[in-house]
Amino acid sequence: MAVNSNPSRFYIGSAYYPEQWPEENWQKDIALMREAGFNVVRLGEFAWSTIEPEAGKFDFDWLDHAIAALAGAGISTVMGTPTAAPPAWLVHQHPEILAVDENGRRVQLGNRCHYCVNSTEFHRAARRVVKALAEHFGPNPHIVGWQLDNEYNRYCYCDNCRKQFHEFLKSRYGSLENLNNRWTTRYWSQTYNAWEQIPLPIGPHNPGLMLEFKHFVTESYRRFQHLQIAELRPKLASTVWITHNFMEWHDGYDHYRMTEELDIASWDWYVGTGHLDYQLSGTAHDLARGYKRRNFWLMETQPGNVDWKPLNNKVNKGETRAMAWHAIAHGADAVLYWQWRSAYGGQEQYHGSLIDQSGQVRPIYREVQQISRDIAKVTDLLSGSKPVAEVALLNCYDSRWSIQWQRHHQDFDYVSHLRHYYRPLAARNVSTDIISADAALDGYKLVIAPALLIVTPQRAANLKAFVENGGHLALTLRTGMKDEYNALLPLRQPGALAELAGAEVEDYYALFDPVPITGEDWSGVSRIWAERLKLRDDATRIIAAYGASNGWLDDQPAITAHTYGKGQVTLVGAYLDDNSQQRLLDRLIRTANIQPDLDTPPGVEARKRIRSNGQEILIVINHTRTEQHIPLPWPVYEHLSGQRFEKEIRLAGYEVAVLTRA
Ligand code: GLA
Ligand code: ZN
Repeated sequence: MAVNSNPSRFYIGSAYYPEQWPEENWQKDIALMREAGFNVVRLGEFAWSTIEPEAGKFDFDWLDHAIAALAGAGISTVMGTPTAAPPAWLVHQHPEILAVDENGRRVQLGNRCHYCVNSTEFHRAARRVVKALAEHFGPNPHIVGWQLDNEYNRYCYCDNCRKQFHEFLKSRYGSLENLNNRWTTRYWSQTYNAWEQIPLPIGPHNPGLMLEFKHFVTESYRRFQHLQIAELRPKLASTVWITHNFMEWHDGYDHYRMTEELDIASWDWYVGTGHLDYQLSGTAHDLARGYKRRNFWLMETQPGNVDWKPLNNKVNKGETRAMAWHAIAHGADAVLYWQWRSAYGGQEQYHGSLIDQSGQVRPIYREVQQISRDIAKVTDLLSGSKPVAEVALLNCYDSRWSIQWQRHHQDFDYVSHLRHYYRPLAARNVSTDIISADAALDGYKLVIAPALLIVTPQRAANLKAFVENGGHLALTLRTGMKDEYNALLPLRQPGALAELAGAEVEDYYALFDPVPITGEDWSGVSRIWAERLKLRDDATRIIAAYGASNGWLDDQPAITAHTYGKGQVTLVGAYLDDNSQQRLLDRLIRTANIQPDLDTPPGVEARKRIRSNGQEILIVINHTRTEQHIPLPWPVYEHLSGQRFEKEIRLAGYEVAVLTRA
């Protein structure tokens, strides 16, 4: 697809809902947007009742006017399809399009995504509105891209979904005999002798059934998404992209499957309560960058505060700018605020916006204006550049779901465990990709597979080839326990990877008390979880061992290292305390010979984006509120201030620098 993946300009803007305002207001809005330095807005999502006030009758005039007026001010449009907000007339005519929740209740009109994603009638209505939009707006040169729907998130338990689940299972398993086998259905008399007997899982259920339900939901959304793409794509120029705005670590479906057919990934970032923790939010940006393995759009972010948390504090003055640069440093090619202006009514009256209810700019407007000015200064420099990583963290939705349903220790959370590996890397400014556990691994020096529970033969072969060719692989807890049907493998952990690891797991322990652990030059504890390792090879080295604790773990190996082919495999059986984890990751960084982007004091982040000509751009962000001194390995030119620095750069609280070598 010849879609413009590296736009020749950077985008900054917001979501804008002109349908909520009389047209005479728009010029004032647009003038303020222009003064804010905006060059993009997102329109149309949720506007179904204005676009199609009754079945088959379309009103595009207002959108034509809005797009033209914005274009007149140099502002491009991202067009949203409005399917996340099926209108009242549609729901009234076809109540069956409303989703049914787990308790068998139809959900109500008036919120969002209230549709059954598999409803034939809903598909018909969605296709009709998207087709009409595609025909009318497809050729519009001011539209740079399309966003489908908004934050897919609903599960439906209606009879139609259940029937379609059966069809899905039939095509996946072929026969009931196969399904019964894979799911061990003799257990608790679950044997099925007709497809119609298979329920949709409500609450805990057979692990095989639960995993297939997630696959079914993913396929349902894929189909719904495809239906829209099929209408749109033929009407769009090849430079116009299609995306969907995802919600970071949302666990509703497999995001790798969902992004396959999209041109670019985008996501919506909200801090909610509290403040930016860059070592945490970095995972979400890197996750989004990993979907398509290319830069992404930050389609929504908060101008100050949200309205949907128990505590909706505004972030500090300066923090919004640090957030924008943090996103850019991790590969965002656009930053859009949600939203431009507070509507008088509707559910989000207290949400942060740039223009308040009186039509005047809020204090944060000035900060966003500054971000636009920053971006304008470095657009040419940044265009086409991207983060490049030597380290990859593997992410697997199937493993995550499986663990989340059978945590075994209430505090064992798949995403927290992954972040536990990310944070020490982020603290050292080591650029990291987060990618699918099925992705190609070429170009990485170090691959970490946090809690890769499900190891298919294909995955095992991939990892083996990676290590044989000189890669460093770190395997962690719960690895290689199950197959792709969520059944236990007839092998000890880490399953087919044991040969690479030169060690295996004799048993695993959810920990009531932390267990002491001693490493080569550190000591600490394992908490939550511990695996007792057994060496399978004389050449396997013990990197850390457990101390006296529950008897079972006393003096047993906790972390091992093994050379295999030209590479090395570390098997981590412990869930280390934060200090020890930093030591472990420092060791991995060292042995895999990874270069951090820059050494910085705590709280200061440094990330590189590399241009296509190889030039390195270093983005340095002071995430603290106090001045920080950052030593420089070489003289630099700072692009926002236009100054040169020789040995050190000083950044005030929340200050940002964009550097190239002088
Ligand atoms: C989501 C939605 C937006 C808006 C924001 C508010 O991300 O996509 O429409 O409701 O939340 O934070
Ligand atoms: Zn349904």
